[in-house]
Amino acid sequence: MRILSGIQPTAKPHIGNYFGAMRQHLSLQQENEAFYFIADFHALTSSPDPAQMQQYILDVAMDYLALGLDPEKTVLWRQSDVPEVIELAWILSCITPMGLLQRCTSYKDKVAQGLSPNHGLFAYPVLQAADILIFDSQLVPVGADQKQHIEVTRDIAIRFNNKFGEIFVIPKEHIMKSVAVVPGVDGRKMSKSYDNTIGIFEPENKVKKKVMRIVTDSTPVEEPKDADKCNVFALLKLVASDEELHQWRQKYEAGGTGYGTVKKRLVELLHEFFEPYRQKRADLENNLDYVNKVLTDGAQRARKVARNKLSEVRRAVGLET
Ligand code: ADP
Ligand code: TRP
Repeated sequence: MRILSGIQPTAKPHIGNYFGAMRQHLSLQQENEAFYFIADFHALTSSPDPAQMQQYILDVAMDYLALGLDPEKTVLWRQSDVPEVIELAWILSCITPMGLLQRCTSYKDKVAQGLSPNHGLFAYPVLQAADILIFDSQLVPVGADQKQHIEVTRDIAIRFNNKFGEIFVIPKEHIMKSVAVVPGVDGRKMSKSYDNTIGIFEPENKVKKKVMRIVTDSTPVEEPKDADKCNVFALLKLVASDEELHQWRQKYEAGGTGYGTVKKRLVELLHEFFEPYRQKRADLENNLDYVNKVLTDGAQRARKVARNKLSEVRRAVGLET
């Protein structure tokens, strides 16, 4: 099955991104033909600092590679290295009703968060549709917040096929639900926009400082505590074995264990969890030529597919004979 997903280079990936998206992307690559790209055209909609964006593109690529993305099998590239998507986005724009985009909640949410209401932000779902359709993607693994964009993609594809013939594969979303929302250190959803993240490869002393700051309630040490309402426990769930988790749950229920003790163990477990990938991540940092080569090779492979689809589209709409 051809699967495709994109991730915006707007920050260094955090553990919420890993458990909510990257881990599933990595496991799906085994059984499928996976196409993953770094959505730099999309990132422009939030006016990033140019130098930072260059760094984040490499960070996303290095994190995926260190965590197990296999560049021989899976295609990984920078979106802007395949500019054919922009041409397709324009063509799709011309059959996309305004009302379809006006109904998209992510535009309204982003403007409410303070992003400028620019045309790129409004037209964002059309570019996303082009990303998906140009590669004949069958399945798009994304978080629940992206469901509407995949529905818009399907709507656009169906309109196009009705008007010009069966050109596009109609994609399905694969909503990744294997973990609940990962909380950040302040208890809200972990998100780069809230400055409450723990980085995947952050040094242990920094992780320790952040974990020690995790918001907990004020139940005294000796009293029983509710594990299911505890942010520290929610993070522990991601990295502890079932057996260890069971023991912690009993300690919460029994009372006598302070949050500080649990936090110390969480720091160790987070470190152990990502330890097997740390050396690879450091090696990549010292071998940026290799990282760039993976991205340009990926772009070449992706571009071949994109060019073929785009010429089919150009013929269908009357831009080519
Ligand atoms: P952010 O919220 O930091 O801006 P993005 O929106 O760029 O993160 O998310 C990239 C991917 O990571 C999406 O698929 C999203 O569903 C997933 N993700 C982000 N934060 C979390 C979280 N706290 N818990 C679970 N998944 C998350
Ligand atoms: N909009 C997605 C996000 O913010 C990123 C993205 C861009 C994407 N193009 C895509 C995801 C195509 C899946 C398919 O997470």
